[in-house]
Amino acid sequence: MVNEVQKLLDSFGINAFSIKKLEGYGSTNYKITDDGGDQFVLKHYTDQKVLPLLIEEIGFVDKIKENLPYQVPYTLEKQNERIHHFADESFARLLPFLKGTFLAETRITPELSYDFGRSMALMVSELSSSKSLYFASKRTEWDLLFALKSKPLLQYIEDPHQRKIAHYFLDQFEHFTLPTLRSLPRQLIHNDFNEWNVLCEEDKVCGVIDFGDATVTPRICELAIGLAYIMQKQELPLAIASEVIRGYVSISKLSKQEIEILPSLITTRICTSVCGSAKAKKESFDSDYILISEKGGWDLLNKWIGWSPILLNDLFREAAGVQECNKKYSHLASEKTRKDRFSPALGLSYDIPIHMSSAAFQYMYDREGNAYLDAYNNIPLVGHSHPKVSEAVSKQIRTLNTNTRYHNQSLYAYAERLLEYFPAQLDRVFFVNSGTEANDLAQRLSKTFTNRNGKIVMEMGYHGHTTELVNLSAYKYNGEGGGGRNELVCELPLPKEYRGKYKSVEEYFIEAKSIIESCIDGGHEFSSLLVEPISGCGGQVPLIDGYLEQLVPWLKEKGIISISDEVQIGFGRLGKWFWGFEMQRFTPDIVVLGKPIGNGFPLAAVVTTQAIADAFDNGMEFFSSFGGNPIATEVGLAVLNIIEEEGLQKHSFETGEYFKKNLRMLQNIHPKIGDVRGEGLFLGVEFINGDGSPGGSICKKVKNQLKGMFILTGSDGKHDEVLKMKPPLCFNRGNVDRVVMAMDKVLRTI
Ligand SMILES: Cc1ncc(COP(=O)(O)O)c(C=O)c1O
Repeated sequence: MVNEVQKLLDSFGINAFSIKKLEGYGSTNYKITDDGGDQFVLKHYTDQKVLPLLIEEIGFVDKIKENLPYQVPYTLEKQNERIHHFADESFARLLPFLKGTFLAETRITPELSYDFGRSMALMVSELSSSKSLYFASKRTEWDLLFALKSKPLLQYIEDPHQRKIAHYFLDQFEHFTLPTLRSLPRQLIHNDFNEWNVLCEEDKVCGVIDFGDATVTPRICELAIGLAYIMQKQELPLAIASEVIRGYVSISKLSKQEIEILPSLITTRICTSVCGSAKAKKESFDSDYILISEKGGWDLLNKWIGWSPILLNDLFREAAGVQECNKKYSHLASEKTRKDRFSPALGLSYDIPIHMSSAAFQYMYDREGNAYLDAYNNIPLVGHSHPKVSEAVSKQIRTLNTNTRYHNQSLYAYAERLLEYFPAQLDRVFFVNSGTEANDLAQRLSKTFTNRNGKIVMEMGYHGHTTELVNLSAYKYNGEGGGGRNELVCELPLPKEYRGKYKSVEEYFIEAKSIIESCIDGGHEFSSLLVEPISGCGGQVPLIDGYLEQLVPWLKEKGIISISDEVQIGFGRLGKWFWGFEMQRFTPDIVVLGKPIGNGFPLAAVVTTQAIADAFDNGMEFFSSFGGNPIATEVGLAVLNIIEEEGLQKHSFETGEYFKKNLRMLQNIHPKIGDVRGEGLFLGVEFINGDGSPGGSICKKVKNQLKGMFILTGSDGKHDEVLKMKPPLCFNRGNVDRVVMAMDKVLRTI
């Protein structure tokens, strides 16, 4: 080969002073410097299949080079030959070495961004008349129309957090973008304005190289791909994107549809790139050229999740000069529908409510283009819109949706899997659709098993919205509009450590025993104790350590069974423990599961012992039309898989500890914070006034001002004095920092 190269150079009259190998794929490339200082690139190919494409490329590059204001790599001609064939059937061509600094090595200014956009539009415009036969039928892995080919490569991404983000964006592309993309105008495009293919000089593009990925595809892909690269590693990627788009539309208009799918095309291109890198890494394909863009790509995808899709659309539309008049929404229409069509009993969060539009992982987006950090919603345990949950639903709903009167593999697989998380004696499960239903069933089970009617509950407890459950929820029956405690119900004081009636578990235990004994003496017969190991509505109050460890065995001696309501705290949220009852060191007779079990899909469960489940079989069939349907059980399985795959319990522990540590630091600065408590990512901050009284109004201000800073939290407690945080478990340290800094800022102003 060296001889052949030498011969080729001789035939061009080039006296090579130096020959240096360059990075690249598809061909072996050499940079040649002749003795006069002129520089060339020699591209050597061994794959005969690329020959027709090369011939076409040489043709269209010759044509466009005349009109473009920047250089393109045209092929030099010698003795009427552009492609030189060698005896071993390989072939080569010689191109002038284009001068300039790679975009990758250039500081990106607004001027350069604008020119970059303009250069892409000029390329698209020049190539629009090229009728290329081979490029039209070429299938390149980098064609965004075929981006879904990257989906199987997701498995090579080692970090599960990163994997799920790439999965999410590809999923969005598949369902929302691809159908539109397929219908958009197509033509030949360069298809790879990446930072190593674009040369710059003085804030202008001075050259574009490498037509190796050129293809016929929707023309919007040119802009999307360029943006996917230029936005990486930038402090203000959206400002740069806007300039690029402005530059682009100074030459060519964009249609509304093209703009609408542009954000998704950008993230899709980054996903194909990081998926390719992951596979290459796995196969120890040690090429810097392939791996080079990985970090910038991941950083941008992670940032992207925190941007509202509506904001992106507005920004891009504005930059493209496409006016739309849906910018300013008023809540008036929503308020009217709410007022005219719903009962005023339905509450809304925050002084100024939010109209939500979509969500991803720990972020929620309203319809005005704001992105909120969700530090509050505990139902989307594994994150909003998790692609594996979405896939579980959509696959199963296309296959079979039925009920528990038939054998079903998914039902059985899920039951087995779920019960693995419980002590051996808790080996029976019922599936229903909501926490309320599950609690109601738990009550029926306990009543049938013990043949008693009385119930023991805790102060400030909440367990559901039916008549039966409102009667068992002190939070409701003692609250506004409540009818007071039912005579069959015995209510125990909440054993709080902070500002509690007592200091020790023994004192609370003695008091509980005496209340229950006096009720029993008065003729009450109790079937069960219904309790949350950490009281959510009580204000994220962990029951004083060891309380249930002492109380439950004592109740058992009296034939009273225990029901642990894990609807809010279950499934690894507490970090150190998968279930709240583990934290209180007792084994309940019945466990009630809901909310996070289906990540928002209606699913709930009651787990119990064989003895209790058998006793329930008194001749009356138990049947729930939807309870245990295979869509729900597939979702349940997906949630458990995600918790394991993404190590969410451990993550919840570590992030929760970090959160608590930082909140306690805040407590040292702000005396308004009386207590910081909770476990894992189930935390509460209790506020107090200067005189030590409950700081309900401080809490309200903090909650609403945090919302104004696009952070969602909630409040609860007897005086609404506790700020509640129970975010999706993918909440990270950066998110914690944002919440704590915002709280600091807010507290300084109150
Ligand atoms: C502890 C607890 N139990 C039960 C329920 C009722 O669940 P659902 O709203 O799914 O009926 C809730 C709801 O907030 C709850 O917090």
